Order: sequence, then C-alpha cells, then structure tokens
Amino acid sequence: MDSQERVERAMEREGTMNLQQRQVLFLLVLLGVSGAASEPQQFSVVEEMERGSFVGNVAKALGREVGELSNRAARVVFKGNKEYLQLHPKTGDLLLREKLDREELCGSAEPCVLPFKILLENPFQVFRSELRIQDINDHSPVFLDTEMVLKIPENTSPGTVFLLENAQDLDIGSNSLQNYTISPNSHFHIQIRGDAERMKYSELVLDKTLDREKQPEFRLTLTAVDGGAPPRSGTAQVLVLVMDINDNAPVFSQSRYDVQIPENSPIESLIATVSAKDLDAGNNAEISYSLFHASESIRKTFQLHEKSGELRLKDKLDFESVQSYIVNIQATDGGGLSGKCTIVVQVKDLNDNPPELTMSSFTSPIPENSPEIVVAVFSISDADSGENGRIVCSIQDDLPFALKSSFENFYTLVTEGALDRENKDEYNITIMVTDLGSPRLKTEHNLTIFISDVNDNPPVFSQRAYKLHLQENNSPALHIGSVSASDKDSGINAKVTYSLLPPETGDLPLFSYISINSDNGHLYALRSLDYETIQAFQFTVRAADGGSPSLSSQAVVQVLVEDENDNSPVVLYPLQNGTAPCNDLVPRAAEPGYLVTKVVAVDRDWGQNSWLSYQLIKATDPGLFTLLAHNGEVRTARPISDRDTIKQKLLVLVKDNGQPSLSTMATLNVLLVDGFSEPYVKIQDSNKEQVQNDSLTLYLVISLVSVSFLFLVSIILFITIRLWKRKTDGGNGHFPSSTPFPSHLVDVSGTGTLSQSYQYEVCLTSDSGISEFKFLKPIIPNFSLQKSESDAEENAPSCNNYN
Ligand SMILES: *[C@@H]1O[C@H](CO)[C@@H](O)[C@H](O)[C@H]1NC(C)=O
Ligand SMILES: *[C@@H]1O[C@H](CO)[C@@H](O)[C@H](O)[C@H]1NC(C)=O
Ligand SMILES: *[C@@H]1O[C@H](CO)[C@@H](O)[C@H](O)[C@H]1NC(C)=O
Ligand SMILES: *[C@@H]1O[C@H](CO)[C@@H](O)[C@H](O)[C@H]1NC(C)=O
Repeated sequence: MDSQERVERAMEREGTMNLQQRQVLFLLVLLGVSGAASEPQQFSVVEEMERGSFVGNVAKALGREVGELSNRAARVVFKGNKEYLQLHPKTGDLLLREKLDREELCGSAEPCVLPFKILLENPFQVFRSELRIQDINDHSPVFLDTEMVLKIPENTSPGTVFLLENAQDLDIGSNSLQNYTISPNSHFHIQIRGDAERMKYSELVLDKTLDREKQPEFRLTLTAVDGGAPPRSGTAQVLVLVMDINDNAPVFSQSRYDVQIPENSPIESLIATVSAKDLDAGNNAEISYSLFHASESIRKTFQLHEKSGELRLKDKLDFESVQSYIVNIQATDGGGLSGKCTIVVQVKDLNDNPPELTMSSFTSPIPENSPEIVVAVFSISDADSGENGRIVCSIQDDLPFALKSSFENFYTLVTEGALDRENKDEYNITIMVTDLGSPRLKTEHNLTIFISDVNDNPPVFSQRAYKLHLQENNSPALHIGSVSASDKDSGINAKVTYSLLPPETGDLPLFSYISINSDNGHLYALRSLDYETIQAFQFTVRAADGGSPSLSSQAVVQVLVEDENDNSPVVLYPLQNGTAPCNDLVPRAAEPGYLVTKVVAVDRDWGQNSWLSYQLIKATDPGLFTLLAHNGEVRTARPISDRDTIKQKLLVLVKDNGQPSLSTMATLNVLLVDGFSEPYVKIQDSNKEQVQNDSLTLYLVISLVSVSFLFLVSIILFITIRLWKRKTDGGNGHFPSSTPFPSHLVDVSGTGTLSQSYQYEVCLTSDSGISEFKFLKPIIPNFSLQKSESDAEENAPSCNNYN
C-alpha cells in the first residue's frame, strides 16, 4: 500500500469518523459534555525523524495541567487504530512511535496531514488534532531508463530538437526535480521544458552539423537535479549515433601508379593492387573497382578484380609491339560516388628475340684461283631494343673467308685471296649472329661453298721414267706395259689422254714399233723384236688433260728387250765346212795333259743363253783325249802309244745354257805325229785317201790365217764403231744401231757355276799354225751402244802369244 493510498484511506476513515464524531459530539452535547469544538490542535513533525522524537506538548496545547491529563487517562487515537504517536502521561509530550515517511503516507499530496483525536475521560472530552508531516529531500531524481540511444543522421540541420526521457523525484516542492544538465560536448546543449506544476522534461538541441566521418558517436551524460539543499541528482547515459550519409567519394591512396613489368611475365601475374578508401560507412563505403575509359587493347591485356583491386595480366606482353599501357581505374562506392587513378605500365624489354639473318645473295660454286670475290650478301637484325638488340656476327677463324660490314647491318662474305680447289674443294661456313643481351641469343646460318675447278694442274706421271721389259720374238700387238698420269683437277680438266712423241733423232721408226692407247696409256709392241738386233730403246710419252688450254707433261719410257734362246752356238774353230783332213797335230811324245787344241764356239744370245758347255760325244779312242766342259780345251788323257791310230776323230757337242738349250756338233780331226813332218808321211802311209798332205797343211794354215784375220778385222771394226759412236752420239743415242752382237765375244762356262763371263781374244800365230787364246779382262756385256764406252776402250784387244 503506497503512501497516497494510505492517505486516501485515512481521509476516508476521517470522513466516516467525522460522521461518527458528529454523532458522538451530538451525544456529548446532549449529555452536556463540554466538548470544545474549536480549531484542531496543530502538530508538525519532519519526516524520517527517529522514533521517540518529540512532536509537541498536549497539556500545553490544550491549556491543561499535566496531572489532569494523566488523571483523565488522556490518549491519542488515529484513524484506523494506527499508533503513530505516543502520549507521555506524566509530561503530556507527544512522541513519535515510529519513523514516518511522508512519501509513503501522502505520496505527492501536499500538505501531508494526519488527523487524530485526543481523548480525555471524566468527563469525556475529545479534541481534534492534526499531525502535519513536513517533507525533507530524501529522494534523488531517478531515470527509469538509464541508457538512451539517439540515432541522428549526419546531415541533420542545427537547431533540431530531440526529446529525452524524464527522470522522477518522489520528493515534492523544491525537493522535487528542478533541472537537467548534459555533459559538456561540442555539438549539443540541453533545453528544459515544462513548468513548476508539470513535470519537467528535457530536450537535446543540435548546435552544429554532425560529421560521422569525424565523430561517429557521442556519449553524453544527462543529469537530473532536484531543488533540495543539498540538491540530489540522478544520471542517465545518452548515446548519440551519427547516421552515415554518402557524403564522401572513394579516394585512391595514390592517384598514379608506375609499374615496370618484364615482357615475359606469365598470364595472371599481378601488376599492381590499387586501393581506394571511402570515409563513409556501410554500403556507402563499399568500393568496387572497374576499368575506366579502357581501350580494346587494355581490356584484352588486363583484368581488374572488382573487389580486391588487383590488376592482373590477361594476355602476353610484347615489348616489341607495345612499350607501355595507361590503365585508368575507377572506384565506385555503394552510393554511386567514384574516384579515379591511373596505372602506367611500362613493359620492360627482355632478350626474347634471337637475331635474324636474311640472305640476300649467295654464290656457289666459286671458281678457284679467282681474286677476292663476294660470296654472299646478307643482313642481320634483332627485334629487341637496347643491348638486347645490338648484334655482332662472325665466322670461324681458320677459313680463307672474311666478313665485311657494308652498311647498316649489311654484311658481305668475301674470299681472302685465291682458293685452291685441289687443296680443299668445299668450305662449311657457319655465320654466327649474337646479340649482346643477357642471356645472349644467337642464330647460326650454315653455308656450304663449293670451289669449282680451273685447269691449273698438269697431268703428272706416276713415274718420271718407266722401264719396260719385253721378251724378244714377241707376238705383234703385245701389251707390254702401261704408263699412267693423274691430274688433280676435276672433270674434263682431269681427263688425261696419252700420246707418243716423235723421236728427236729420226733413225728409229718408233711408230712402227710401239703404239699407245690414248685413253688408258697401255703400250703395245707393234712388231716382233729381235734382241740380237735391238736390245733397248727409249721414247717419250706425253699426257695431256682436256682443259682449255690443255696442260701436259712427259715421261721417258725405256724398253729393254730381253733375250730368248733363239740362236744355236756357232763353232768358230775348228772350221766345220772346211775340207782340211785334219785340224790339229799332236806329237806322240806329248805328256798326258798336253793341250791339243781348243774348240771355240760363240752364241749370239745373251747371258745364260750364251753360256756354252762342251761335251765329247764320240771319239776314235775314247780314252785318249779329254775335253774340258767349260772351256773346250782338248787335252791328252794318257801318254800316246804307238798302237794308237794316227788319225783320231772327235765329235764335240757344243751346248748353250738356254731353256731349252740349243746345241751344235763339231768334228775335230787330230793327227798323232812323231814330228811335224811325220804325220804327213804316216797319214799318207796309212791313209791313202788323204794324198795331198802338203796341201792339207797349207789349207790349214790358210784357214787359220783367215780366221785370225777375220778376228782382227772385227776388232778393228768394233773399236772404230765405238770411237765413232762416242763422237756422234753425245749421249743422245737412244736407239742403238742395228749392229749385231760382236761375234768375238764368247761366254765360257766355268766349272758348273756360270757366274762369270769372259772376253776372249783369239790370236793366230802364223808361224806355228796353232791358234792360241788369251784371257782378257772380264767385262759386263752391254746391250745398248751408249753404254760402256770406257770398257770398250779398256778392252781394246791386244793380241799376245799364249806361249
Ligand atoms: C538549471 O541549471 C543550470 C546550470 O546549473 C542553470 O544555469 C539554470 O539556470 C538552471 N535552471 C533553472 C530553471 O533553475
Ligand atoms: C660440310 O657439311 C656437310 C654436311 O654437314 C658435310 O657432309 C661435309 O663433310 C662438310 N664439309 C667439310 C669440309 O667440313
Ligand atoms: C651448322 O654447322 C654446325 C657445324 O657443322 C652444326 O653444329 C650446326 O648444327 C649447323 N647448324 C644448322 C642450323 O644446321
Ligand atoms: C766355211 O764357213 C765360214 C763361216 O761359217 C765361211 O765364211 C766360209 O766361206 C766357209 N767355207 C767354205 C769353203 O764353205
């Protein structure tokens, strides 16, 4: 039950009491009770006084003796039997029985009065009284809502008023709520409304324009103050939220971004991240980025992330086509305001283009021996720039070619001096073009230059001189050998044809002897040759190439005719066709080993074919004579006895050493005589057919003389020819004259081994009539007349007696 209610009830009760009192009073009046119904006695007390506090003195107020009150059992009666006050019977003081709260008893009613009666008995008297309760400031103003939130748009105009919640104060009068204050701030002040009767309320007044971007909220303290002394207060928090409006455009952190990016950057690489700020809040600060006034090429090359502001590559860059891009970017907030910035993208050159070589002209093959000529013309280029585009070119060092720079990246490849196809007919040239970038890029261009032939090499014979051997008696048109010449040139320049040169001395009909195949150099003997006629000859062959002009060279071919055993031995002594009855005389007194005679034979062949051996085939008395096989000497084998027939006939086989060997028979007649006269007698005696002994001797002598003479003539002739040859020949006598082999030269076989040959001279002693032999100095037989002149001189025969 609150105080007001209580007060009302009390009033009610008083009303009813009043009715009862009036009845009692009427009764009392009737009873003659003096009940002074005058003005009620006033008592006053301040609320919240302690129990037992003094309120007033009843005796004094009623004008009675203190003892009377106690005699008359004075008491205090409140409506509803409440006992707020206690009457002290002895002193008549009214004391508070309990603490009184004005607000509880009366609420906001003013004044707050509690009526009560003072009763006296004997006689019964009633005195009306009132207890007035005075207010003290025992309540502070209280806000029901201690947190207030005000949302104010930032563009609100100054002067606008915002109503605030009220505070309440249970006290009344000046102790009630009197004033509001707000904490000091820059934007607001407070304004109080309402009058003294009505409850006061406050309003917040905006003094100047709010800027959310500067201060988005205000925390204010609202204080309510009452009028007590001292005053009491209560507070509440006022939160002012400044509501955003889109009054700021996005602003980029930089208005221009400079970015360098290498041209080989991969797609999706990040180029730049732009960022813009918007001071507004919420949707007004939601920024989205977009390309602005972008050309087609920029749209193709770049992509911009709407939210993050990342500019990324969408396509490959190529410094050689575009060196820089200007990308305009716009940032828009949710309210449609926008800001702009620019990204300048510089594409950095990388060495990504290899140099290029363009061949303008190229000549191959080039002729050898030519002076400096231009082989190739080419140009080089590089699409990169700066060092990356600077280029140098080179070829290998070891080549007879050089690069010459002509103008603006044009180069010529020229020969350095004459080239020799025979030395090298093909050059592989690598032109290396390099740029100076990093890493270096290079391009190679390979050229193969062929050198064409010029007829600068004559044919060369495989030998300077050829020596061919030819067996005599050859078949005609026999291939006897070949010459060959080669030519280092090529093609027709190397096509060699062979020919015979006519002899300088026309004494040999060369062209009837020899022919040559002009294509392959094969040599043929045209006719059969006879060693005994010609032992050797030489001629000159010529090889010419097919070039123009043609080059040629010569070689000497010497043909050596080789002997064949085609001549039988010829017996020179004893004469076989003579009519002489005997050839040699042997004295009967001759000792064994007496040299009877010597069979002399010659063979026109040479070498082994002319080595002769002698063999006794048949004899009248086989035991009497021996024949030395190697020299034809006939000697007695035993002493001659008288019984031996006077006329002895020996049959001698002369055989050469050829394969097969040829032989001749010789008959030798020997007379055994006692003296040189005897045999004739004895022959005449014993042999009647040989009557003419004297004439026989004479014939013998004549024949010996003639043989000797024949030899002498031969030797003289021989020497003469030698001397004549030496004079006329002068070393040029390539072709020997057809002088036959000198018949006086005889090969004599030794004992079994035919290792040496000897030259014999047969001398005739006309006085004795016996032919005798003398060994001369051995010589090597020569087969062509230009040789061994000195030998011939030395061997000029000198004829001495054997005995
Ligand atoms: C309220 O308080 C303020 C400051 O304390 C004062 O200036 C003002 O006069 C007061 N208003 C009333 C009606 O007493
Ligand atoms: C040149 O190159 C070709 C092909 O590579 C090769 O067959 C030839 O032998 C080379 N010649 C020289 C002289 O190196
Ligand atoms: C050029 O020649 C060189 C050496 O013979 C060889 O290594 C290279 O591969 C060649 N280059 C080309 C492009 O044929
Ligand atoms: C015997 O022969 C030689 C040579 O063989 C010859 O010179 C000579 O005339 C001939 N004598 C006779 C009589 O036939």
